Amino acid sequence: MRRITVIPGDGIGGEVTKEALETLNVFGLSLEFDILGCINADTFLNTGIAMSEADFGRIRASSSALFGAIGDPRVRSPEYARSVLLRLRQELELYVNERPARLLDHRLSPLRDDLSRRIDCVIVRENTEGLYAGIGGSLRENTPQEMTVDADVSTYLGVSRIMEYAFSIARRGVCMVDKANAVRFGGKLWQRCWAEATSQHPEVPGSHLYVDVAAMKLVSNPSEFDVIVTNNSYGDILSDITAEVAGGLGAAASANLNPDTGFGLFEPVHGSAPDIAGTGVANPIGAILSSALMLRQLGYATEADAVRKAVESAVAARNCTPDLGGRLSTKQAGAAVRAALV
Ligand code: IPM
Ligand code: MG
Repeated sequence: MRRITVIPGDGIGGEVTKEALETLNVFGLSLEFDILGCINADTFLNTGIAMSEADFGRIRASSSALFGAIGDPRVRSPEYARSVLLRLRQELELYVNERPARLLDHRLSPLRDDLSRRIDCVIVRENTEGLYAGIGGSLRENTPQEMTVDADVSTYLGVSRIMEYAFSIARRGVCMVDKANAVRFGGKLWQRCWAEATSQHPEVPGSHLYVDVAAMKLVSNPSEFDVIVTNNSYGDILSDITAEVAGGLGAAASANLNPDTGFGLFEPVHGSAPDIAGTGVANPIGAILSSALMLRQLGYATEADAVRKAVESAVAARNCTPDLGGRLSTKQAGAAVRAALV
């Protein structure tokens, strides 16, 4: 029996995670779910600590983790996300953030031209360094002379291993995205690692774009891309673009992985959406597809494909939530995916 820790979090996190768990349960696999319902904004507001050391230990000792979403309008401090999601990514060394974007149904694309609509790409985002490393400081705080620095950290190890992962999952090619024309030192390191990675993988077509051009092309011609490898912040931003082009943020899935230990934390790309929390209209597909990524990581590739296909057929039949053009509630949309499974 493998133990999966589940962190529903805030807002719609609990509602969408529930649908993902019910979908996993259909397969009767030997998975046991350990639900950590206290890791949320209420706990942070009441105690100042959202994730206790005991909770952290339970997550670390589990086989995988399923994450809902965190974020609450009452919490303004960035310490909250930093002490939960970003801490898990850093301390469990989940250095790959893999965000696939594949159009679920043609009518969901905002693009007019049929060919350019066919997006099927994966953002491979470096997940532990860059501006998220938390290195920096400030001088003369709260004065007109305040000065702040956030270091944009790139290490040879971090950059070369994320490129290696990108090549390991490439189907048609890898595009490296940076801003080496403006970012002097980090840009040079990314370019050096890229030259090494492409020479180690001559069989895979490699290309390079600056991030501004990549953003433009992801809208004008998204079908051009297969795997995009980039740093933490560019990956954060580009994966919201690809999510939207592939049918909307509510359907986008992601995996935070450590390919060396095999541990993964799986989460929908969307946030906690406090504006619709509790209204029963949240789209569970981002969470369900994230649980399919978890199935794949745990070695259940057939089941993972079955979930993906069931989601596609439910969406094609408009058995989905209003954001995807259906009329179903969160629960009904989850049930529609499960009905399409059998
Ligand atoms: C994401 C989110 C997080 C990030 C936030 C919640 C810190 O936007 O997973 O993309 O920036 O990584
Ligand atoms: Mg983001």
